[in-house]
Amino acid sequence: MNSRIVIAIDGYASTGKSTLAKMLSRQYQIPFIDSGSLYRGITLYALEKGFFKDDKLDQEALSEALGGLNLRFDNETGGLYLNAENVSQKIRLPQVSDRVSNIAALTMVREFLLHQLRHMASENGLVIDGRDIGTVVFPNADYKFFFTARLEVRARRRYEELKALGQNTTFEEVLNNLIVRDQIDSSRETAPLRKADDAFEIDTSKLTKEQVFADLLEKIDAK
Ligand code: DC
Repeated sequence: MNSRIVIAIDGYASTGKSTLAKMLSRQYQIPFIDSGSLYRGITLYALEKGFFKDDKLDQEALSEALGGLNLRFDNETGGLYLNAENVSQKIRLPQVSDRVSNIAALTMVREFLLHQLRHMASENGLVIDGRDIGTVVFPNADYKFFFTARLEVRARRRYEELKALGQNTTFEEVLNNLIVRDQIDSSRETAPLRKADDAFEIDTSKLTKEQVFADLLEKIDAK
């Protein structure tokens, strides 16, 4: 496989995108990035800097701070570094999940990350998962997939993941967060969550990750 290949996996939260992107990255020896973690990193930064006042974001302060923000995704561990601190655990906290869709709806934030993501792909190709990868970030990606799954299945998966991370949350909280995020992610003006016309759609509700992986490999090989 050509080393500059770009594989885009978009879709709803907790449909297995990152897990499968990691598996493809290993299979084809191409770097991987979970683009959602970058939006989470910016949200964490805004929270820690006190840019949310009574839950209202000071957009000007965030805009000024973006230039000095250093986000690095470690391909080996799948970890995210924010100005050299490993924030992989913190970006999964509920206070980040509750605000990340509002941060991701800001055009200035999307433009800031768009350039970074394109730059990352220019060297060795990329397997990347997100919401707008096949539509906006890499409209010419070599392979595009769009994952869906039933809401309850997604909420159960995310709940189990968070419990494994030791987080104190309930199934209802996780479910409500997914409902709100789906709504904001799909209805925002800039780069909303949408299937690219030329993406393969896969419903992962009843499939194991091995089954989805086999399906992806078959589609990639057939192209
Ligand atoms: O994949 P995730 O749940 O960690 O993503 C967190 C949020 O980031 C999600 O609610 C929407 C946003 N996001 C986005 O708008 N565009 C992307 N390419 C990736 C994530």
